[in-house]
Amino acid sequence: MASIDYQELIPNNVELSTDRRLQRALEHWQPRFLNWWTEMGPEGFMASDVYLRTATSVDAKGWAHFGHVKMPEYRWGIFLADREENRTIGFGDEFGKPVWQDVPGEHRAVLRNLIVTQGDTEPASVEQQRLLGQTCPSLYDLRNLFQVNVEEGRHLWAMVYLLHAHFGRDGREQAEELLMRHSGDIDNPRILSTFNEPIDDWLSFFMFTYFTDRDGKFQLKCLAESAFDPLSRTCQFMLTEEAHHMFVGETGIGRIIKRALEVMQETGTDDPETIRKAGAFDLHLIQRYVNFWFSSCLDLFGSEKSSNAASYFASGVKGRPDEARYEDHIVADSIFELEIPDGNGKAAIEAVPMRNAMNEVVRQAYIKDCMVGLTRWNRLIKKAGFDFEITLPSERFRRSIGPWANMTMEPTGKLISAEEYERRKGEFLPTEADRAFVKSQMKAVMEPGKVAGWIAPPDRGINSQPVDYEYVHVH
Ligand SMILES: [Fe+2]
Ligand SMILES: [Fe+2]
Repeated sequence: MASIDYQELIPNNVELSTDRRLQRALEHWQPRFLNWWTEMGPEGFMASDVYLRTATSVDAKGWAHFGHVKMPEYRWGIFLADREENRTIGFGDEFGKPVWQDVPGEHRAVLRNLIVTQGDTEPASVEQQRLLGQTCPSLYDLRNLFQVNVEEGRHLWAMVYLLHAHFGRDGREQAEELLMRHSGDIDNPRILSTFNEPIDDWLSFFMFTYFTDRDGKFQLKCLAESAFDPLSRTCQFMLTEEAHHMFVGETGIGRIIKRALEVMQETGTDDPETIRKAGAFDLHLIQRYVNFWFSSCLDLFGSEKSSNAASYFASGVKGRPDEARYEDHIVADSIFELEIPDGNGKAAIEAVPMRNAMNEVVRQAYIKDCMVGLTRWNRLIKKAGFDFEITLPSERFRRSIGPWANMTMEPTGKLISAEEYERRKGEFLPTEADRAFVKSQMKAVMEPGKVAGWIAPPDRGINSQPVDYEYVHVH
């Protein structure tokens, strides 16, 4: 089961050739996908040979193949993790019953919407990043961008397969729509608003892969617990790809900080102006980008109290990340103590049925995971001898949904007046000047081994290749 058939027009490990109807439907979708990729994918690099990895099997060691390919020739395919015999539903009211190999009628609409929403983010991010390659800080980074992009394209394949295989005509129509909506399109935008903002500088790209892809990781973790087994197995394999995206984000931001520290040591100051004159990004600016990206990603988990989340959990459609680590999988009568504003500038506790607080449970797991990189970055700063700490803002800061939505506060969570917030916004969030400075540093560096001045070179290359390897043959 684990081996992938690359002889087929559509590489797969789902024995696609045994289902002619499905195979034909997907082969019909394939050229449309390729049209979308060439029109909306990385602009200016379709003819370049890129050192990409391709899955050769779906187990953890399955990333065996690396080689130069032109992106439109990448072997996008359908890969599901191996089926676990006798798997049972791991949570909710159906706990312990056999998982579903087909979609139960009563959960059809909900599952379809979850799959479409997840599927929509995948091509959206490719579209958001389509111009980035033209300002890459190195060939190493250019290759990583493209690796992320082709894998997001494959994640679209993963969701389209589920729609085609399990949702009939409606699913096929939804699969078409996934190629018709476009990031930032006024008439037909992507579903989630975060995915309609262009990502046109590399600091934002690294923030996106650190914070937004990590949201993706947690959504996939919840869906990997699903009672709908094909969805679960699809998401399990996607998670192995997602790990690399977060590596790109964490090491990208880490290298930017490292470069800032080098300049701080050379100049003997942490004065932002001096750091910028030397062509690096000061730590205050990086902190403002962290505040911006972290706070916008928190909203992606949905409202703190949610009856939808409760019914997803009850029905077995969507679980908690790493469900196995919990003791109570039914969660029928436990309580979540949710902090809500008390109207006097403080927090009060509201007891919420745990099932209704599932979005918050997932968000808390996400926040904890976000700390991993910060701890590493702060170690770098401390080791360089500077007294500065990158912090995550309060989870109430700059929220658009939930009980703390639209309240004005410092990143620490301290409530302040709307006037004070407006006046001090530039301390908290990237300013026009910050963005303009970041943009001004975005100039392509495409000589093997050379790296832009605002970022340190990577510690090591890809797949044991040297750092100065020609990861992309730019034509
Ligand atoms: Fe993805
Ligand atoms: Fe991703």
